[in-house]
Amino acid sequence: MSDAFLSLQGVTKRFLGLVAVDNVSFEVKRGEVVSIIGPNGAGKTTLFNLLTGQLRPTDGAIHLNGQLINSLRPDARAKLGLGRTFQVTKPLLSLTVLENVMVGAFLKHPGLKEAEACAREMLAEVGLSQRVGIRASELTLSERRKLEVGRALAMDPTMVLLDEVMAGLNQSEVDDMIGLIRRLHQRGLTLLIIEHNLKVVRSFAERVIVLDRGVKIAEGKADAILSSPEVIKAYLGDRRK
Ligand SMILES: Nc1ncnc2c1ncn2[C@@H]1O[C@H](COP(=O)(O)OP(=O)(O)O)[C@@H](O)[C@H]1O
Ligand SMILES: [Mg+2]
Repeated sequence: MSDAFLSLQGVTKRFLGLVAVDNVSFEVKRGEVVSIIGPNGAGKTTLFNLLTGQLRPTDGAIHLNGQLINSLRPDARAKLGLGRTFQVTKPLLSLTVLENVMVGAFLKHPGLKEAEACAREMLAEVGLSQRVGIRASELTLSERRKLEVGRALAMDPTMVLLDEVMAGLNQSEVDDMIGLIRRLHQRGLTLLIIEHNLKVVRSFAERVIVLDRGVKIAEGKADAILSSPEVIKAYLGDRRK
């Protein structure tokens, strides 16, 4: 048995004729920060949906902490320590910021008081302490992203999957989010991060995995991968579309 927290072996997802994720294998160890990159449509979000249980793989095996989780529901995977954000944020718009994060906190704190205390702590961590009482619908895009991270943290995860949390943010908001990711890493959290901006990837990732048309085409240390001709070609191909 390896010491990986997350392990994928030959994971495949077919949608009718399309192979969105094609025989992908990799491991992530506790405490690592790994980035998944690849052009639009490469299968990155589908891969996250397979990991957190929104989708079931057509083939292959996903292990979390040594346990096969292929057929577990999302809430059961969350209990095992897997948290995530969504590329398109899904806050409960009519609830307050505090209540949104309490929804996450209830997973491990059934009591109202404990859930609220946990939610307030996580909102401080993501920098939303000033916004606890307002409705989620009133947040800016960057604040919604922080809310999603706060809700994931409130579930007390070992590993968090972040899906393009920088997209659409301005430079100072991006810098802010990079700072948050660094703090989470320092706290010992394991992070798997989908990110399109390679400069941003360079700023935090230790290891990079590249997907192209569902296939893992490269994996290795960030510096080597981000200067690889094959990776650059996959990205230039994307721009020509
Ligand atoms: N639920 C679905 N049904 C059918 N096709 C899908 C579904 N989800 C994603 N796809 C297709 O799978 C491919 C990969 O999509 P996605 O995982 O969203 O890519 P990425 O996140 O890398 O941009 C795309 O061609 C997309 O259209
Ligand atoms: Mg995506």
